[in-house]
Amino acid sequence: MIPHTPGASEVSLKDRINTDLLPKHVAIIMDGNGRWARMRGKVRTYGHRHGVRSVREAAEAAAELGIKYLTLYAFSTENWKRPRAEVNALMRLLVQTIHRETKTLHENRIRLKAIGDLDSLPDHIYRELNDTIRETAHYEQMDLILAISYSSRWEIIKAVRQIAEMAKDQKLDPRDIDQQLFRKCLITSEFPDPELLIRTSGEYRISNFLLWQIAYAELYFSPKLWPDFRREDLYEALIDFQGRERRFGKTTEQVKTSCRG
Ligand code: FPP
Repeated sequence: MIPHTPGASEVSLKDRINTDLLPKHVAIIMDGNGRWARMRGKVRTYGHRHGVRSVREAAEAAAELGIKYLTLYAFSTENWKRPRAEVNALMRLLVQTIHRETKTLHENRIRLKAIGDLDSLPDHIYRELNDTIRETAHYEQMDLILAISYSSRWEIIKAVRQIAEMAKDQKLDPRDIDQQLFRKCLITSEFPDPELLIRTSGEYRISNFLLWQIAYAELYFSPKLWPDFRREDLYEALIDFQGRERRFGKTTEQVKTSCRG
């Protein structure tokens, strides 16, 4: 891993993180690129381009701390409805970033993964993505999961179709449909559910992201616009997460008893 020279504020924040109590999986809704660009009198794609540094910082910081899965919402199914020029620019940026940041993935031993309707991607993007996924498949420090052309309702409908097909072909008794089976049919089935979901830009929405998977996730909303999001902001989110009591429907007393074993 490339040694990162931390600044003073970063050190004190990082020191406050209990690395034994890290969430295994953190998911981020990267939001605010357009507003960041507009505030500077620039076109929206300027904001997307500046968001790449935040992607790199979040991925490096997460891998360095020992977070095992980081999912980033890079492009939603609904984002296809944006002006053609912005969609094209985002696709170009995606392919360029994957290409240029392959070095970061190798240096930090990060395995790249992707979730979403990948068949809807232009051929060259699909190829570039798959090449990097294959090249980094042996790394085990952290999975960086890019949600591209992803939406949770799309994923859920896909799972429902698969289950209906199995029932139609009499490979499955509808009475055997339970949470475990449903989970196995999701495209995210190989990853644990995120314990922490971060959204930037001061918006309080989930925007069709991992709806099933975040049933028990802690939600953290950062006022920072995505291009301003730095490793210290990730540290702050983790410190906040570690200060919360996760009850999973139980009472505080029950949680305390089970912690004592
Ligand atoms: C949301 O901001 C951001 C996106 C739709 C794209 C995120 C993409 C990147 C950061 C580029 C590179 C990413 C990777 C993973 C290689 P917005 O445009 O909705 O902002 P707004 O709400 O201010 O309009």
